[in-house]
Amino acid sequence: MFAVVLVGGFGTRLRPLTNEIPKPLLPLGQRTILEWLMVHLARGGVTDVVLALGFKPQPFLERFPDARCAGVRLHYAIESSPLDTAGAIGFAARSVGLDSGREAFVVANGDIVTDLSIAHLVAEHAINARQGALATIHLTPVDDPSQFGVVEFDQPVEATGRRVVRGFVEKPAPGTTMSRHVNAGTYVMQPELLRRLPGDAPLSVERVTFPELAKDHALFAHPTADYWLDAGRPETYVRANLDLVSGVRHDREDAVHRSARIDATARVTNSVVGAGATVGPGATVSDSVVFAGSNIGADARVRNSAILGDVHEGAEVQDALVGPDGV
Ligand code: GTP
Repeated sequence: MFAVVLVGGFGTRLRPLTNEIPKPLLPLGQRTILEWLMVHLARGGVTDVVLALGFKPQPFLERFPDARCAGVRLHYAIESSPLDTAGAIGFAARSVGLDSGREAFVVANGDIVTDLSIAHLVAEHAINARQGALATIHLTPVDDPSQFGVVEFDQPVEATGRRVVRGFVEKPAPGTTMSRHVNAGTYVMQPELLRRLPGDAPLSVERVTFPELAKDHALFAHPTADYWLDAGRPETYVRANLDLVSGVRHDREDAVHRSARIDATARVTNSVVGAGATVGPGATVSDSVVFAGSNIGADARVRNSAILGDVHEGAEVQDALVGPDGV
């Protein structure tokens, strides 16, 4: 089975980390967000991934020189100008001929971290497709829906079990919708849907394609309460890392890489420290991500931050993203 993975965005909210490194290639534990996504897709039966590339494609090509990752074959579709999400899906899917095939395919945002079962989503979509679905969308509940586009859907019809999406409410005021479910960034699509995604001009799947499909009763919902984070914001990016090493996920990884050097008088708590990173004498690091190769100076204090460049001796860093120039 094929998946299209969207990795062409600018990742502006994670600047300056994303000035040089595209968001999906930022570390998640001791791998990257994208590599964990590949592991996840492979487990769900995906054999081939088309990376929908735009902003900074080169780091992706260099990262996977044999065009394989986690046992998945990689294909590259590079946009000459940003096509937005639906444009990118149309362009990438056509580049490997999915428009002339008959098989459904998975689509995933490249910055989503989740324990959703891809196999369940695909199996449910197969049933939905027999009842007219052109796509099935994973939904996740959020505490405060007012910051999101909320998705309203039918409760399952007993005989069929299907949940049809009724519509989308953008940033709802309190009391205007009963739903707390938002688009969770993973979909299964029928190849026929590609007729609506020409892939030759910018088009948004969230703002245009899905609301249109909902009007046609051709978009079905797959709500789950699985672990889920959109890692594209500073606080969620750090949180996604801490959750992976603290054991709240299905997967768990080493918090501190074995090649990292932490001085005996330094204190590192609830943090990820990458390969070859150093933490100097008397320094404290808590609830943070220290990228591979980065150096935390003596007596520095780092809290709730992501550190790509070096932190100088005695510096205090809190709730910050430190880019390649350091601090
Ligand atoms: P921000 O700039 O911080 O909003 O991040 P972003 O550019 O990644 O945007 P957003 O998180 O809304 O994008 C959702 C997903 O779509 C991400 O996986 C992006 O990489 C991807 N994406 C957004 N726009 C494009 C595009 O024009 N082309 C491609 N190929 N992918 C895109």
